Amino acid sequence: MSLREGRLIYEGKAKRVYLISNDELIMEFKDEVTALDGARKEHAPGKGKLTASQTAFFMDYLTKSGIRTHFINWDGDRRIHVRRLRMIPVEVIVRNYAYGSFIRRMPLMKPLTRFTAPLVEFHLKNDGLHDPLILPEDIIEAELASMEQIMEVKSVALKVNQLLSELLSNHGLILVDFKLEFGVNGNGALVLADELSGDTMRILMNGKHLDKELFRMGGSVKELMEAYSTLNSILGLSL
Ligand SMILES: Nc1ncnc2c1ncn2[C@@H]1O[C@H](COP(=O)(O)OP(=O)(O)O)[C@@H](O)[C@H]1O
Ligand SMILES: [Mg+2]
Repeated sequence: MSLREGRLIYEGKAKRVYLISNDELIMEFKDEVTALDGARKEHAPGKGKLTASQTAFFMDYLTKSGIRTHFINWDGDRRIHVRRLRMIPVEVIVRNYAYGSFIRRMPLMKPLTRFTAPLVEFHLKNDGLHDPLILPEDIIEAELASMEQIMEVKSVALKVNQLLSELLSNHGLILVDFKLEFGVNGNGALVLADELSGDTMRILMNGKHLDKELFRMGGSVKELMEAYSTLNSILGLSL
């Protein structure tokens, strides 16, 4: 299915966003891979289709499991059609195992130690400041979201974690951690937005990353594309 064109309103690191009506957008996943706050960037032909298909698959699964998401449909290529939201400029990270920036701030723990309970973190979405960790109270004081919205964000994030962990574990995969973004729709309801793919989740298969960590660790675009293709075939996503 092909989606209508629309006007380009935003170009980020991973996607281009087109406005197609007042309350609908097209997100086009770019054939680019970036890491380390954009310091490492390479062309990756075919990547947009992989991350768009993964996002479509996970968003569709979450929607069917009762999570309110922005997802409408996928064009079978690099674009997904979504509901336009007023975004909360906060990245929500859910962690099941210690890894990455968690280890940098808490070096007393060894990588891949399983947490007794999942951790939910809030980071200000600001590349210039390297997405700093912030408190729920900071979000409220800066009026980025209300206390009620933050509590809902946290409970939805934990529910999403349960659903995704279970889905991946049924395929023999481990969900280490992932990033979510939320927005608010015209009715004031909280909605899960943005993407869910190897770019935003850490997924292990027998200790091997099927996610962007490969590229962060210095791996090639080819290795990354193979890992994303492996994830797709394990999940039964044919392109
Ligand atoms: N449903 C939505 N409505 C409005 N904006 C959205 C929606 N979903 C995601 N976004 C925003 O669209 C942009 C997607 O492009 P991306 O390349 O990820 O940008 P960035 O480099 O800013 O993270 C992000 O800024 C994200 O917050
Ligand atoms: Mg982004």
